[in-house]
Amino acid sequence: MKNQPAPGMKDLISEASIYRRLEDDFFKILKLESFKEIRTPILESKNLFSRSVGDASDIVEKEMFETKTDDLVLRPENTAAIVRAVLNDYKVPAKFGYFAPQFRKERPQLGRLRQFYQYGFEMFGDTAPQSEIESLLLISKLYKKWGLSNYEIQVNYLGSGDERSEYLNKLTKYFTDNKDKLSDNSKKRLEKNVLRILDSKEKEDQDLISSAPLILDSLSESSLKLWNQFLEIAKAVNLKLVINPRLVRGLDYYTGMVFEVVDTSGKLGSQKALGGGGRYDNLCKELGGMETPAFGFAGGVERLIIALDLKDESVVLNKFGLMTTELEVLETFVKIKEKNSDIYVDILFNTNLGFKKMFKRADKNNLDYVLIVGKDELLSNSFKVKNLKTGEEKEYTGLSDNLLLKNYK
Ligand code: HAM
Repeated sequence: MKNQPAPGMKDLISEASIYRRLEDDFFKILKLESFKEIRTPILESKNLFSRSVGDASDIVEKEMFETKTDDLVLRPENTAAIVRAVLNDYKVPAKFGYFAPQFRKERPQLGRLRQFYQYGFEMFGDTAPQSEIESLLLISKLYKKWGLSNYEIQVNYLGSGDERSEYLNKLTKYFTDNKDKLSDNSKKRLEKNVLRILDSKEKEDQDLISSAPLILDSLSESSLKLWNQFLEIAKAVNLKLVINPRLVRGLDYYTGMVFEVVDTSGKLGSQKALGGGGRYDNLCKELGGMETPAFGFAGGVERLIIALDLKDESVVLNKFGLMTTELEVLETFVKIKEKNSDIYVDILFNTNLGFKKMFKRADKNNLDYVLIVGKDELLSNSFKVKNLKTGEEKEYTGLSDNLLLKNYK
């Protein structure tokens, strides 16, 4: 049996062209908004994610690929590592973009892989609602560029400090009072991270979740003011948002506004989240740095490809063959090849093979045209050009180093 990639992982051959184009588009747009590219290691210490994404998150609890001996993991996401990198040697304000593979040991299905790519960005130094608005506008710009229209942006506000703990107390009391109605999974979440119950997809939890207390009702006056200000500015700049008061996201580091871009085309089945992000003002301090306002987003490349129905985008270059049996012509051929760098030029040369065999090879290489110099052409300083798709052949005089192949198609 042939070897296959590990479950949830893919060899990208024809799809690689799509990734290349999306990555190029992504950085072109981010550059205009003054972002720098960042690349962090694929292997990270496990501790980095326990302290940021959170011990009780699904990611840290069960989805990381770990080494046996030295507490290293394949990174499940990029935000924590970027915070680490920025704290070590960069001054804020700073804005970084990435297009990079991430790894999560999830059950593979449509739109859910174990190695997947994220296009994402992180912004450091701006308080709410500056980065919130800037990010959502940037995401809308990216999706417009990519021709994505069937999506909605869901937003919620998680609050911070006292209001967050007050809300968590309310929520814990509510679910504890109704514990016997909760699914087994959510009973565990009640002990570890009550907020995650709101993320539950289990049927038996849905009624309880729909009447659970909402964070928006526990916000302090100053938070409410910020939230409303954000909504007002979003409206003024024409951002269409859907408030989802139960959106909590599965990662611990968020503080204020969180959001998710949700596919509405139905093409993604249950993996509808095209991307997500939010504010994480406490993370820099929690990872040992100065208190720094921060905000970020990451989207899944594979889900974007499904939503956009993208197919192999390899550009088929015109393929020209330079075919000769004559050694004296080779130097000229090499120079012609150098001159024609925008065309795929194959030099077919073999004094032993003869033209018949060379034509066979030209066919195998799927060449469109061949320029032919045989003994007769060499003597009369001429060459032939044959269109291999139609069989049409023309003769020209004067083979020179400066020949531009495009002129002979
Ligand atoms: P996340 O919601 O865990 O957030 O992932 C962001 C996006 O990555 C998801 O919405 C989805 O499109 C894609 N994704 C996640 N897991 C998979 C998977 N197994 N297979 C395919 N695609 C997947 C984060 O990762 C945060 N770091 C986002 C962020 C940046 N927050 C602030 N800054």
